[in-house]
Amino acid sequence: MAAKLNRSIVIAASFGFSLIVGLILVLSLTGTFRSVTAPAAIGGPFQLTDNAGQPVTEKSLQGRPSLIFFGFTHCPDVCPTSLFEMSEVLRALGPDAARVNAYFISVDPERDTVAAMKDYLSSFDPHLKGLTGSPEAIAQVLTGYRVYAKKVPQKDGDYTMDHTALIYLMDRNGNFVKPFDLKRTPEEAAAELKTYL
Ligand code: NI
Repeated sequence: MAAKLNRSIVIAASFGFSLIVGLILVLSLTGTFRSVTAPAAIGGPFQLTDNAGQPVTEKSLQGRPSLIFFGFTHCPDVCPTSLFEMSEVLRALGPDAARVNAYFISVDPERDTVAAMKDYLSSFDPHLKGLTGSPEAIAQVLTGYRVYAKKVPQKDGDYTMDHTALIYLMDRNGNFVKPFDLKRTPEEAAAELKTYL
């Protein structure tokens, strides 16, 4: 009985000890994380043009939730798939689709002119807007959203782009919430998005 009790005390003590060690570890890690990331949150100012030729800035994110996806019109695979999935979510939103922003921001301003974006976006839900701008304007938004995008030359002299393929969910205040999960039914994704209206 005494031996058993002692063992319980040892187990409880070591459990308590690992909790404390774990807590210290978590605190120090988040502390380190904060000191690295504190100066700039995800997002920030940008000045782009949509596929209708209208200006879109960070102020356009105010008052409604936004889904933002970065890619390029020459993308063979990931971009069209993601834009198709985003279109399905917008369709599932019904009339509420008019109360969210859905942006496809180009990482390839060299080829993605406003006209190219307009043509490309015609294949997707009309609520989805394609944003582009000068190389400097695109560089600014890529930095703000910490998007990785890199030109990859191909044999024929052409190039493709390696890029981050996250869907950013921004709240009504234009603050980043989390990556938005499209790997579920459009209805499930739409239901979650509605909670941010
Ligand atoms: Ni892509």
